[in-house]
Amino acid sequence: MLQKSPILQSTVKSLPFNWYFKETHFKKELKKIWSNEWVYACHENNIKKPLSYITLQIGQFNIIILREKGGQIRSYINTCNHRGSTLCKETEGTLKTALITCPYHQWSYNSTDGKLIKTSSFITPKNFDKSKLSLKKVNFKIWNGLIFINLSEKQTKWNLKSQFQDYDSIISKIQFEKFEVGHVWKKNINCNWKIFWENYSECLHCPNIHPELSDLVPIYSRRLMDIKEDPNWEEKIGHDDPKFSGGLRKGSETWSLNGSAQGKVIKELKNKKNFQGHIYITNWPSMFLAIFVDHVRVVRVLPIDHENTQVTAEWLFEKSTYDDKKYDKKNVIDFAIKVMLQDGEACELNQKGIYNPGISAGVLMPEEYEVKRFQDWVTKKIR
Ligand code: FES
Ligand code: FE
Repeated sequence: MLQKSPILQSTVKSLPFNWYFKETHFKKELKKIWSNEWVYACHENNIKKPLSYITLQIGQFNIIILREKGGQIRSYINTCNHRGSTLCKETEGTLKTALITCPYHQWSYNSTDGKLIKTSSFITPKNFDKSKLSLKKVNFKIWNGLIFINLSEKQTKWNLKSQFQDYDSIISKIQFEKFEVGHVWKKNINCNWKIFWENYSECLHCPNIHPELSDLVPIYSRRLMDIKEDPNWEEKIGHDDPKFSGGLRKGSETWSLNGSAQGKVIKELKNKKNFQGHIYITNWPSMFLAIFVDHVRVVRVLPIDHENTQVTAEWLFEKSTYDDKKYDKKNVIDFAIKVMLQDGEACELNQKGIYNPGISAGVLMPEEYEVKRFQDWVTKKIR
């Protein structure tokens, strides 16, 4: 049976503008969303070497994710139990020894189990119980090479299918864990984190914000993300022109500067039916996977505060592609950066406009059904 078009049948009000700049509202989201959901940290190979680490900033929270000397992943709250100083100051790095040493008064902790090893006081008081002062562990899950953390005290269970809002079995088939991280790119965007996701969720902006991308994916030039958004889409199936049937422009294979995938095809995509050149899989509130024929891009979204968001992209390549000196990674990396910068600019433009008096919310148009889905998700979570 043919699916119905997902577009909205009537316009609806969008979320109140003050949800995007009120600090008290952001605090509520930190508590109800960011402290409960699984949040993406990085691909395992980003901290490949023993003692390498990253830190994650989620609003005022800060978390360490490291590979201990034996090769296992560990995660701790980035806070010293002495008087609360931050332990690891950098966003990424390598511990000099197997100890995590506080930069303030030099208490040190074992990075493998978080135990307090020594303080810097010359006297140890009688009632001082080292064993009660271990680093606070953070719950984490490594799924297919991707590390997620969870700050909830409830020991939230990992559920793959509900985790990815658009679960597609292809993500269980592709062995991301065997992929190499070819590049990491970070950008702080002056917008609330929800503005990032809303922009991600529609293509009404595509032709004017992304001219190059709309040329590569012709249906985007019609401001549509998917063929099914067209009310008469059944008639367009198998249409000769990708502007109507979706997919990449004729002769192009991947999202890259020249459209070429340089002869690379991810093993598990070789026989994938109806693959139109890209699969996007969303994981609110913190990441999406973009799967292309020759590479995968993982984009992480973290709120710095109520009006600033950090976006991090990791490009993953099959080992053989990663090792191939003839394969030019910049062809896909530079194209995606161009698109992400265009989106970042649009998000900042959006954020700047919402403070003015006299207007307190926007409206969603039919094509913005994904924005509506996201806004409904947020609303439900913060209740
Ligand atoms: Fe860490 Fe004092 S706060 S040693
Ligand atoms: Fe965009």
